[in-house]
Amino acid sequence: MAEEAFSQRTITCGGLTKADAGKKVVLNGWVHRDRNHGALHFINLRDRYGITQVVVDDDASKELQETAAKLRMEFCIAVVGVVRLRPDSMVNPDMATGEVEVKADSIEILSKCLPLPFMIDGEAEPNEDLRLKYRFLDLRTEGMQKRMKLRHEFVKAIRQYFYKTDFYEIETPTLIKSTPEGARDFLVPSRFYPGKFFALPQSPQLYKQILMVSGMDKYFQIARCYRDEDARGDRQLEFTQLDMEMSFVTRDDILAIMEEMFNEVFIKVMDTKLPEQFRRITYHDSMNTYGNDKPDLRFNIEIHDLNKLAVESTFALFNTTVANGGFVKGLCAPNTEGVSFSRKYIDALQDAAKIYGAQGLAWIKVGANNTLSGGVSKFFVGKEELIINEFNAKDGDLILMVAHENWKKCCTSMGAVRTKLGKELDLIKKGFEFCWIIDFPLFEFNEDENHWEAAHHMFSMPQSQYLDTLESDPGAVKGDLYDLVLNGYEVASGSIRIHDVELQKKIFRICNIDDATAQEKFGFLLDAFKFGPPPHGGIAPGIDRMVMIMAEETSIKEVIAFPKNTAACSPMDDSPSFVDSIQLEELHLKAIFPEKKKD
Ligand code: AMO
Repeated sequence: MAEEAFSQRTITCGGLTKADAGKKVVLNGWVHRDRNHGALHFINLRDRYGITQVVVDDDASKELQETAAKLRMEFCIAVVGVVRLRPDSMVNPDMATGEVEVKADSIEILSKCLPLPFMIDGEAEPNEDLRLKYRFLDLRTEGMQKRMKLRHEFVKAIRQYFYKTDFYEIETPTLIKSTPEGARDFLVPSRFYPGKFFALPQSPQLYKQILMVSGMDKYFQIARCYRDEDARGDRQLEFTQLDMEMSFVTRDDILAIMEEMFNEVFIKVMDTKLPEQFRRITYHDSMNTYGNDKPDLRFNIEIHDLNKLAVESTFALFNTTVANGGFVKGLCAPNTEGVSFSRKYIDALQDAAKIYGAQGLAWIKVGANNTLSGGVSKFFVGKEELIINEFNAKDGDLILMVAHENWKKCCTSMGAVRTKLGKELDLIKKGFEFCWIIDFPLFEFNEDENHWEAAHHMFSMPQSQYLDTLESDPGAVKGDLYDLVLNGYEVASGSIRIHDVELQKKIFRICNIDDATAQEKFGFLLDAFKFGPPPHGGIAPGIDRMVMIMAEETSIKEVIAFPKNTAACSPMDDSPSFVDSIQLEELHLKAIFPEKKKD
C-alpha cells in the first residue's frame, strides 16, 4: 500500500526571513508553545533549525479553527500558509525568524503526543533519571540540541584536520582479546567456544601500535572505548576518544600536531584563538604549584614551598616536620567581597585537605599594616614580614598551610584547598586554559598489591637517561608521557611507545607480569615487535570530556546522546536487562546471583 502523503516542508522552522514575505510555504515541526487568544491562535512551531510563529487568524475556516483547537504541546504537525511581516510592535529580536510569521491556511496533525513528563521549553529542570528515561524528549530541548550540534561540529572539524594532514582513518575491532589495561574489561561470551570471551576495548591502544608496525604511518580514529568502572561526572562506561598514532616521531611532534589541530578546531567551532603553543609544566612542578597533575590555570592561586619559612617559626609541628625531611606548603586565599573567612569556612577547607591525607590545616589571617592574627600566627611573632612578603599578602587575606612528611600528600591536600577556593571565591575566569603536563613518573607503587605498576599504561617509553636504572630504582624513572589538561580536567593522554621486545618485557616484569604471562596476554604485540617495528607514539583526547568543557557543563552525560546514569543503567531502554535462559544456554553460561544481604 502506498504511504499516505503529507504536506512536506518547503523550508525549515529556522529559515524564514522578511525577504520571504508573501511566499506560500509548508512547515513541518513540533508544537513548542501554543497560545490561544480568543479567535487568534499563536503556535510556535519548532524543528532542529529554529522556531517560527504560526498564526491562525480570526478569519480562518471553521475546519482550521477546529484543528488548531485540538493541538497540544509536542504534536507533530504540517502547516501550509503564507509568510507575512509582523507588525513592528510584535517583532521578536531574540528569534532568528522574529520579523515574520506564517498565516496558516491549513494544519495537518501528523502525530499526537501524550501529556509531557516535563516541559521541553524547560525552565524547570527535571531530575536526571526522568530526563534519561524520556531521553527522546530531553534531546528535543534547546540545551541538548545545542550540545549535540557542538559535538557534531567538533568531531567534524577534527576529521577535516586529519584528512587534510594525510592521516588514514582506520577502524579497529570492538571484539578483542581481554588484556589488562587499567580498568576492568567488559566481556562478551563466545557462542562457538564455551568458556572463552572477547573483551570490549578499553581503548584501541595495542591495535594502533600494530598499525604502526604495519606501516600505516599516520592513523586516527573516532573510537568507542569501554571500561567497567564507576560512572562519575567526567566518566562513562562507554565513551569516545580521538585516538591517533604516528611513526618516526618524537614527543614534540605529537604535541605540535595536537596544538595545531586544537587551534584550527577552536577557531572553527568556538570562534576562539588559542595560543599556538600550550604551556608545558612538568609533573613535579604541577604537583608542587597547583597540588595536582591537572591544574586549573584559569585562576592564579599558587602553592608555595614554605620549608625555609617554617623553620623560622616557633611552631613545633612545622619544625619537626622539616627536621624529619617532610614538607610545609601554603597558599594565600585572597580577601574576597562577600566571603568571610569564618572558623566554619576554614573548617570546611580543612575537611577538603583531610580527604587527601592532611592531618590539619594551619591558618593565619592577614590584617592592616603587616599584622597577623588568629590560628598559628602566635608562632610567627617578629616574622610577620617574612610570611607577608612570601605571598605578597594584603589586608583581609587568609594564609593556609599543611605540614606532612609525604610530599604527594602535602601537595594534593593543598591542591584540594586551592580547587575549593577557586570555585567558592569565584576566582575562575572564563575561557580555555590548555597546558601540557610532561615528565610523569613511569611507575606508581601499588600499596595494596605490593608491586610497581604503570602510571599510564605499560607501553610507554622510559626516558633514555633511566634505561640503566629501570629495575634498581623504578620510582625515579620518568616516562616519555604527556597529558593534555584543559580547565582542570585531563582531556588527553599519550606517550612515545616502546618498540623493543626486550625493553617491553622488562617493563612487564617490573609491573609483576612474568614472561610467560606477558606472552599469553600480549603475545600478539610482542610477536609483531619481532618484525621491524618503527619508533612510534600517539595520544588520545577524550571527545566527551572536551565537548563537556566547551559546553561549560560539569557532567559528560550532557554531551552524550544516550548515556548511562550514575547507577550504570540506561533508564530509557532499561539496560542492562535479564536475558532468557535459552540465550544463556547458547552461550554456555549460568547466572549465579549474589546472596541477598541480611539486615
Ligand atoms: P587514557 O586512559 O588516559 O589513555 O584515556 C585518554 C582520554 O580518554 C578520556 N577518558 C574518558 N572519558 C570518559 N569516560 C571515561 N571513563 C574515560 N576514560 C578516559 C580522557 C582521557 O584523557 N590508550 C591511551 C591513550 C594513548 O596512550 O594514546 C588511553 O586510553 O579524556
